[in-house]
Amino acid sequence: MTSSGEPLADPHSIEEHLAEVLSRYDGSPDPRLAEITTAAIRHLHAFVTEVGLTRDEWWAGIEALTAIGQLCGPTRQEFVLLSDTLGVSMLVEMINHRAVVGATEPTVVGPFHVAGAPERELGATIVVDPTPDDEPVVFSGTVRDTSGQPVAGARLDVWSTAANGSYDVQDPGQTAMNMRGVFTADDQGRYEFTGVRPVAYPIPGDGPAGALLFANGRHNVRPGHLHMVVSAPGYQTLVTHVFDRASEHLDDDPVFGVRSSLVRDMSDGRCRFDVVVQPID
Ligand code: BEZ
Ligand code: FE
Repeated sequence: MTSSGEPLADPHSIEEHLAEVLSRYDGSPDPRLAEITTAAIRHLHAFVTEVGLTRDEWWAGIEALTAIGQLCGPTRQEFVLLSDTLGVSMLVEMINHRAVVGATEPTVVGPFHVAGAPERELGATIVVDPTPDDEPVVFSGTVRDTSGQPVAGARLDVWSTAANGSYDVQDPGQTAMNMRGVFTADDQGRYEFTGVRPVAYPIPGDGPAGALLFANGRHNVRPGHLHMVVSAPGYQTLVTHVFDRASEHLDDDPVFGVRSSLVRDMSDGRCRFDVVVQPID
């Protein structure tokens, strides 16, 4: 009791506070939602406590998240960019695509995939708008499964930047679907098409995700790569890239997407990239 007869304050501890918050989410009818929500709460509380977040820092975080949301739209996904640059997108790929010795490693899809790219004949080019800077590269290989069997008719959806380092969707000077194509492997799982030698290029750096990168002394330049999504009935869809061995930034990709098994020599205008997909089990 205080001298005025009121009860002494019994401060609520940080642990009691967390326990109370968690208990309110106990009754969720969806067990998976409850698992994700309570884990997010536990980790968020631990993070705030660990860094001793000040009120100003909490507000700066709210403002940054607000700005990120305001930038999102049909052609810009700043939340994905944040996830990419924090290494979360790559972690999600790693968790969802079980690592199997011999299978092609996955990497991030990134924000520049466009559904509905044109189906092209094997051996065709994806270069709709040739430029004097193009260094043509013939990409070829065989799609097999983890037991070594060719995957006839596998679908390869590929895309890359033009030689200027921009995707068609970022660059009003390019024809829609420039540097994109969907190829169907032949009855022995083989594919081939022509593209251009990938160049290192900057991911968008003019929003809050870029600001966080630069404020932490990081850069936003990805090493040169060509994207590929390989799919076939009965197999896990593989999202991957093939990287140019001669490119800068293979060691410090801002989105953590490089795997040494995905790096190839392209200096003679050819890139051999065999793909191994995993059966769905
Ligand atoms: C990309 O390679 O297209 C990409 C990946 C992550 C963030 C931005 C771009
Ligand atoms: Fe890319």
